[in-house]
Amino acid sequence: MQILSGKDLLPHLSKIRKDTPGFLLECSRRYGDLVEFAVGGTRVFFINHPDLIRRVLQDNHHNYSKDTIQYNTLATITGRGLLTSDGEEWLRHRRMEQPAFSRSRLAALDQVIAPALEAMLVRWGQQPEDAVVDIDREMMAVTLEIVGQALFSIDLRTDAPRLTQAVLTALDHVIYRAQNPFAPPDWLPIPQNLSFRKALRQLDRAVYEILESRRRSGEKRDDLLGMLMDARDAESGGSRLTDQQIRDEIITLLIAGHETVASALTWSWYLLAQHPEVWEEMREEVSRLPDDRLPCYPDLERLPFTAAVFSEALRLYPPAWLITRKALGEDELNGYKIPAGALIVISPYVIHRHPQYWEDAEEFLPQRFTGGRERSIPRFAYIPFGGGPRLCIGNNFAMIEGVLILAGITQRYRLKLAVEGAVQADPLVTLRPHHGLPMRLQKI
Ligand code: HEM
Repeated sequence: MQILSGKDLLPHLSKIRKDTPGFLLECSRRYGDLVEFAVGGTRVFFINHPDLIRRVLQDNHHNYSKDTIQYNTLATITGRGLLTSDGEEWLRHRRMEQPAFSRSRLAALDQVIAPALEAMLVRWGQQPEDAVVDIDREMMAVTLEIVGQALFSIDLRTDAPRLTQAVLTALDHVIYRAQNPFAPPDWLPIPQNLSFRKALRQLDRAVYEILESRRRSGEKRDDLLGMLMDARDAESGGSRLTDQQIRDEIITLLIAGHETVASALTWSWYLLAQHPEVWEEMREEVSRLPDDRLPCYPDLERLPFTAAVFSEALRLYPPAWLITRKALGEDELNGYKIPAGALIVISPYVIHRHPQYWEDAEEFLPQRFTGGRERSIPRFAYIPFGGGPRLCIGNNFAMIEGVLILAGITQRYRLKLAVEGAVQADPLVTLRPHHGLPMRLQKI
């Protein structure tokens, strides 16, 4: 195992800050599957082998918690929702929320996706031919609308524009914090912190309004919000979740459930525009659908290539490019002792390029995921949705949404890049194109 000290890392500081995934990739190429960064008081281990990842995320997951800078920073917005909580509390909430992601509910997701997609396509239809739009922004808007409607029956576009804005402002702050580890603490009344606090207040107000209005209406809806409001916590003698707990879960799902899918879609469009032959093949598959209406759930089985495009985009540009854990007790990885308190760093971006598991790893080749070939990929060499008990609760939701949106847009539009050269991926909360992704809309 290679150990890199602060002195070794100093010359790479700018790369680490601007292009952390690229830096981690270089480390893995140069030093192998287990690297220690010995900086400050914490020992940091970067692991990049399916067996080691399996050990941390699955086989010995009880020994690893989410008490890390990454999740603690996110928790300043989400509180201890499903994504950031641990232990018994996490398990109870996971069980509570799981039914909202059951097969039968997901089968009805197309009824939410189609109207949101249709509204976007109508807007695009009003643009002049060859208009340029920021696809990143468009994908963010449509996915936020879908998750709001699917899980909470709220129309975020018309009912809660303030909520949308507050989510985005608060996320910006998380990014600012991550990029500026030595920035003044959150409690100092500097302008950046004040606007963060204002965004948090707005978020709270908007979420509590949603809760209040559901209570006032007396309506019993069987969406996730209804489930959370009705849930009784057996552990605490059958008491209901507090408003704070419900708020934390709502914000968690809005954040985890929209920017990730949007990012995967944006990179899919980027890759498709660079590989016209792949787009042609996808277009052919889409044009074989029985009629011209937007694709719906039963059409998914006719769209294996479109699904492969989405999976391959998730491989090259995994939105959740970083997964971290803190070791609660000692462990052993590859024969090396991992002390309690160590930080474990896993990067889907890097393992998805491991030359032992991926041939021509940098190439965009959706056929890796067709014809049963995907079954030969080792489970923990492909982890866009994580793995083990903390596997993304929305993985199937995201696949359905991603494929239906790709197919629906391909029925009517061809998207061409409106920027020259390669687009840089910014490692923010998710992997996002630097300065958005301007694309030209060409009607088919
Ligand atoms: C392409 C889209 C998505 C990607 C790439 C993605 C990725 C991930 C990853 C990697 C994790 C595990 C993090 C870890 O182990 O530390 C995760 C967890 C989670 N995701 Fe997703 N996600 C996506 C879509 C969604 C959607 C659509 C939802 C909800 C509607 C969602 C909700 C969550 C939640 C609540 C967790 C925490 C689960 C738990 O710990 O029990 N995600 N996601």
